[in-house]
Amino acid sequence: MDAIQHALHRSSKHAPQQPTPQELSELKHKYELAGQGQVFTFYDSLNPAEQGALYQQLLGFDPININTITAKALAPAKTEQDGGAPKLEPLPESASASILDSKPEDINRWYAEGLDLIAQNKVAVVLMAGGQGTRLGSSAPKGCFDIGLPSGKSLFQIQAERIRKIEQLAAQKAGPGANVTVPWYVMTSGPTRGPTEKYFKEKNFFGLKSENVFIFEQGVLPCISNEGKILLEGKGKVAVAPDGNGGIYNALVESKALDDMKKRGIEHIHAYCVDNCLVKVADPVFIGFSASANVDIATKVVRKRNATESVGLIVLKNGRPDVVEYSEIDKDIAAEEDPKQPGVLRFRAANIVNHYYSFRFLESIPQWAQKLPHHVARKKIPYADLASGETIKPTSPNGIKLEQFVFDVFPLLELSKFACMEVRREDEFSPLKNARGTGEDDPDTSKYDIMAQGKRWVEAAGGKVASDDAKSGVEVSPLTSYGGEGLEQVAGKNVPVAAALELN
Ligand code: UD1
Repeated sequence: MDAIQHALHRSSKHAPQQPTPQELSELKHKYELAGQGQVFTFYDSLNPAEQGALYQQLLGFDPININTITAKALAPAKTEQDGGAPKLEPLPESASASILDSKPEDINRWYAEGLDLIAQNKVAVVLMAGGQGTRLGSSAPKGCFDIGLPSGKSLFQIQAERIRKIEQLAAQKAGPGANVTVPWYVMTSGPTRGPTEKYFKEKNFFGLKSENVFIFEQGVLPCISNEGKILLEGKGKVAVAPDGNGGIYNALVESKALDDMKKRGIEHIHAYCVDNCLVKVADPVFIGFSASANVDIATKVVRKRNATESVGLIVLKNGRPDVVEYSEIDKDIAAEEDPKQPGVLRFRAANIVNHYYSFRFLESIPQWAQKLPHHVARKKIPYADLASGETIKPTSPNGIKLEQFVFDVFPLLELSKFACMEVRREDEFSPLKNARGTGEDDPDTSKYDIMAQGKRWVEAAGGKVASDDAKSGVEVSPLTSYGGEGLEQVAGKNVPVAAALELN
């Protein structure tokens, strides 16, 4: 059974199984013991299919564990060391490198090493695409979004084509007969899985072989009321939400994506977020840098724009690598200046959720996945009123969603097994977060950043892009160039602005 079929098989819907009276009473007892018996309020009024569905949904959760993680998330432990705020420092230079000031020979060596590993079929890519994109205001998965490029390509298509191109570049380096595959593991969630699968099939997997695309689904957790009770969305359904991008670790194991990687002999993994249109998927420089440093996790960062930008920061927290989210950092600390470089932020290593993992580290997921903390997001959660059974849409936050964060694994590592690489923002990071017209991290900025990069590449190759408009540029197809290479044909030529450049 190939990868996609396998993943699809796991999602096939069976009619929900009805419990025996004994099974039902055992489950009720379990929820009552945990003080969560309210989830059965309407059970007797449901038809048999609805009863079966609710039973199966409830069977999937351990209510005692839900209570425990909720309590922990609501009262995060004070640090043992000082009983107060954690000690935050920037990462030491020993754990960091920067593309901005590394020697060209180092960058070239990392590139060559990374491309060799790709050619040896040891590199895989994991995409996190389970988010619901509420800020963007589109109900379709973000990856399907048309950011307005001349070609009309979506984020998924751009990323898939970068995989195709890097496979081609690695095969060229390896020489005749090389057969290079970079498998793509796409994490979706309940809301994004169906439309993502449909879109990939409609687009014929963007020219990738379907057996090398493994679409899987992250887990969900129940939504909890402000009083600590599991909420029902309707009479026969618990309100649930995806378990955050940190759900990736459990999902890699449960979907058997990790088994698939093992079968293929994967040793190095690049993981990234769907919303970054400039992401260098399976970046050989990053793979080569991380593999040669023999680390278990490496992360790319860009320089934070200003003290208030909504990005997490890579830091050393109580001596361990960690991320402090933008919602969590103290304003004064965020604004501190680097004593060595006045005018530059002391904490400037902006997290772009762009990671390298060694396969050996991901294999150890079952040993630590349960230890990852949960974070609280206070939300307006539609819920079934327990007296009337009617679904109420609250106007102010009435409960919490519990989420794991992908970077919460960082503190599990010794600093020697962790590395950080600073990259150029204009070349590697332009996230799609907000609706068109916002002016920041929106579809227009995504489009502009791709076209401005294309223009820089064309000009560096000796081509001319005639335009007085600073906002215009050229869209260079990833099938033509992965990172600015292969554009010799444009030397001395005029390339029209707003072109979609695809060269043979
Ligand atoms: C995230 C980072 C933040 C970083 C910023 C950069 C986290 C928790 N925070 O913030 O430190 O500076 O990106 O752009 O990662 N996703 C899932 N499943 C989920 C939730 C999200 O797969 O349940 C995916 C999304 O599809 C997306 C990525 O995770 O690809 C980031 O999610 P998003 O909610 O946009 O994170 P931010 O709050 O912007």
